[in-house]
Amino acid sequence: MKSIGARLAICYVLASTVTFASLFLAGRYFVEHHAIHALDLLNQSEFEQIRASQTALGTKPSEAELRKRVQAMMSDKLELFFTEIYGPAGTVVFRSPGLHGRDMVPSPRHQAFNVDVGGLGELRAGKFALGPYTVVVATTKEHVRVVMTAYEHTFYGLLIVMIAISSVIGYGFSRMALRPLRLIQDTADHIRSDNLSERIPLSGARDEISDLARLLNQMFDRLEASFDQIRRFTAEASHELKTPLTLVRLQAEKLVVDGQLTPAQEQAVQIQIKELAHLNRIIEDLLFLSRADARAISLDLRPQDPEPLLQNFAQDAHVLAEHRQQRFFLTHHGSGKAAIESKWIRQVLLNLLSNALAASPPGSRVTLRSTLVNQCWQVRVEDEGPGVAAEQRERIFERFVRIHRPGDEDKGSGLGLAICRSIVELHLGHIFAEAGPDGRGLSMVFEIPAVTPSHTAGNIPFNAPLHSTDAA
Ligand SMILES: Nc1ncnc2c1ncn2[C@@H]1O[C@H](COP(=O)(O)OP(=O)(O)OP(=O)(O)O)[C@@H](O)[C@H]1O
Ligand SMILES: [Mg+2]
Repeated sequence: MKSIGARLAICYVLASTVTFASLFLAGRYFVEHHAIHALDLLNQSEFEQIRASQTALGTKPSEAELRKRVQAMMSDKLELFFTEIYGPAGTVVFRSPGLHGRDMVPSPRHQAFNVDVGGLGELRAGKFALGPYTVVVATTKEHVRVVMTAYEHTFYGLLIVMIAISSVIGYGFSRMALRPLRLIQDTADHIRSDNLSERIPLSGARDEISDLARLLNQMFDRLEASFDQIRRFTAEASHELKTPLTLVRLQAEKLVVDGQLTPAQEQAVQIQIKELAHLNRIIEDLLFLSRADARAISLDLRPQDPEPLLQNFAQDAHVLAEHRQQRFFLTHHGSGKAAIESKWIRQVLLNLLSNALAASPPGSRVTLRSTLVNQCWQVRVEDEGPGVAAEQRERIFERFVRIHRPGDEDKGSGLGLAICRSIVELHLGHIFAEAGPDGRGLSMVFEIPAVTPSHTAGNIPFNAPLHSTDAA
């Protein structure tokens, strides 16, 4: 069983049931014991009455007189007591008619004993000495049986009620006991690399769980410090690299412009310039990502109709697609506004388009489908390329993750989709990849909340925590 809460509740119910059952067994023993003791006392008092009726006959009454007296005495108690009198030789002197001739053989060892007489059920009997005679007085145990059966029925009824009540109490108890753990789980769930400042709330109590929460908070402190250090390092290193890199590129370009290089040297310098441009782009991308991580990107989100932006983007997209002998299509449905900053959305669209074009063969088509309905602006960029295996579709949004395919010439850095995700999330949206229509190619989808009409005239309807100052 997975849930500790369920296990705790079950243990509680089991413990309560075992305790209750033990109490029942002990109670049963005492009640039965007392009821049988009461029967023994009844038998004893009945014998006392027989003895009292015989005192006039002396210490050694004859068998006939004894029988006569006992018979007279017993006639009004036929159903209650059964009596048998044995003579000194073991012969039966008297037997109650209720016994119908059946024997109650007295136990040689016990003064009081149980005897099962066919037809009468179990009887409780007492053996007493009356001069040379042995008197056995017995009474039925039926009443004890009835009491014990009622006792058992009451127990089973109470057991069901007790299990129901203890299940409720056990469930409540386990929830209460696990509440601090759930609090830890909820907080740990929220804490991600971009949200390391949250901490587990600590209660005043100093117990094992609050010690654990304290330890986890200390670990989050250390993690946050390390992450900050890495972010600062990436931001600073990217920034510091930019100037020398620009200088090197300018020097290389100057060499080419001066025209004093041999063709082989010029070719080498051109390669250097190309690689420097590539390196420069990586540095720009890293700088962007570290600023986005540090929430130091300031977005000017304005509610606007995305259609003009899409039409404008489509003009460039047609040219880029034609350059690769591919075709670009744009569809847009719905109307409304979304809170966006055009330049960033354009960058996302360009990244997605360049990926789609790079992945698709010549002659294929890339389609951008935009829909603005149900308070959501959804954009899908569909291509006819090889697609991405389902298990890799989330990984490609990680930094520097690239899927190498045979004949892959495009020298990307694997940062494009990570940047797209940062930008879309800064717009309070999300982005994901899925299989293309009919399972062919890949569909990159991003969704950004649309602005409800009542908000379109004023500010953005959500309190975007994005407008921090540019700190990097
Ligand atoms: N439409 C697509 N079809 C197939 N694979 C894709 C598609 N888009 C992205 N990918 C895969 O995801 C990887 C990561 O894409 P991403 O845009 O992050 O990096 P990149 O294009 O390689 O480099 P960069 O964009 O930084 O120049 C790509 O290398 C590619 O393998
Ligand atoms: Mg890319």
